Amino acid sequence: MKVPQCIVAISSLFLAHALVFVQTSASSAPLTTNPVFEKNCAKCHGKTATGCHFGGPSLASERVNATSPDDLLNIIPNGKDRMPKYACKLTSEEIDTLVQQIKSLNLK
Ligand code: HEC
Repeated sequence: MKVPQCIVAISSLFLAHALVFVQTSASSAPLTTNPVFEKNCAKCHGKTATGCHFGGPSLASERVNATSPDDLLNIIPNGKDRMPKYACKLTSEEIDTLVQQIKSLNLK
């Protein structure tokens, strides 16, 4: 059976929207439910991202709030003092999502 052209066009449009939706919903989810955070960051910054173990500071702080997204995009892959580097461990998409989620922690 030959599928009419317009149905193909409509369903690919729908698919594109669905993909956008998945991406935005991933970054609007809270930082503390992001498996990337739980696996890599919670051991130092705490399960609630308010800091605790191994000297990891709270990420919901005045200081992080005052840090620009560009600086955060730089700190996560490159590290800072005792904060380890993540450049080889995380993809840039994962780091982008973390930065957006860290920023939204500080909007409250
Ligand atoms: C080994 C413990 C450790 C792990 C794991 C860790 N951090 Fe950190 N992090 C630190 C420490 C310690 C600092 C403070 C660095 C400084 O300014 O002296 C820090 C600082 C930061 C800062 C900057 C805070 C500020 O106020 O300037 C951000 C943002 C951050 N970490 C995010 C993350 C993210 C995201 C992850 C997971 C990908 C992560 N960290 C994993 C220990 C850790």
